[in-house]
Amino acid sequence: MSEVTVIGLGPMGMTMAETFLAAGHDVTVWNRTASKADELVAKGAKQADTAATGELLVVSQISYQAMYDSFDDARLDGKVVVNLSSDSPQVLREAAEWVAARGGTLITGGIMVPPPGIGRPGAYTFYSGPKAVLDRYAATLEALSDVTYVGHDHGLAMLYYQAQLLIFWSSTTSYMHALALLGTAGVAPAEFLPFARDMFTGLGSDGPMGFAKILAEETAAGVYPGELNSLHMQAEGLGHAVAALEAAGLETTVPQALRRLFRRADAEGRGQEGLGTVIESIRKP
Ligand SMILES: NC(=O)c1ccc[n+]([C@@H]2O[C@H](COP(=O)([O-])OP(=O)(O)OC[C@H]3O[C@@H](n4cnc5c(N)ncnc54)[C@H](OP(=O)(O)O)[C@@H]3O)[C@@H](O)[C@H]2O)c1
Repeated sequence: MSEVTVIGLGPMGMTMAETFLAAGHDVTVWNRTASKADELVAKGAKQADTAATGELLVVSQISYQAMYDSFDDARLDGKVVVNLSSDSPQVLREAAEWVAARGGTLITGGIMVPPPGIGRPGAYTFYSGPKAVLDRYAATLEALSDVTYVGHDHGLAMLYYQAQLLIFWSSTTSYMHALALLGTAGVAPAEFLPFARDMFTGLGSDGPMGFAKILAEETAAGVYPGELNSLHMQAEGLGHAVAALEAAGLETTVPQALRRLFRRADAEGRGQEGLGTVIESIRKP
């Protein structure tokens, strides 16, 4: 089994260290607040005095600034830093240069599960950076999740990660609007759950509601057929939904923003195209 250092012991880093230990790896940990390592040390981890200890350094912190603060002016010669923290893609690209200037190599990652999913079937992480380096450590990293390589550009892992989270945050927030609206008429969340599930799975299906695939194909082609369900019709329908939320006394910031976007595409003359034409407005703010 191999050696790995986990830097950052928030809920994610803590679970990563536990998962590496459970997989039989030789685990060293470092955290700004040193006391958070106590539990892991009791389970067999070693505690490092400085962050830049070991060859494979897996980082999970609030941001990339935390990595800069943690390594400070340490040299990273021959070390591979696998940073699974969130930040903007451009920050990740600059971080690759920062690590290289200290003699190390950066692999960036976006892990697609919360702590309970780490090391469980179905978990995966988007990785970017030099593939040959990632390949050397993939067997160790697979203890956390499947290793999904998305390209050499260090920003890519974060772009994929944020793409997934945009879908996650907006769809779950819309689901909350749905639950709140139904709740005003006394409908319990459990009563609506089967229909919500049907919508979520339908969007990913190949059926008539399979908009993940439909929008991918339409966006690639730049053609958004709207004969059967035009954007204009949907902008009107969304207006009715906003009115329903307002009448029910609910918060409407997000649905109003959606309505603004739909109406803009309609006003720009694309109302007879399909829903997919909204991406043209997103691309030109
Ligand atoms: N939680 C999730 O479900 C989830 C899922 C996927 C990805 N992520 C990403 O994973 C990363 C870690 O998330 P998390 O939930 O474990 O906790 P978090 O609150 O994002 O990060 C906590 C960690 O960051 C450290 N930290 C913060 N500022 C620091 C600084 N200036 N210098 C050194 N260390 C610093 C903390 O150290 P102290 O203990 O000393 O404060 C702690 O170890 C984040 O980027 C998050 O976006 C989270």
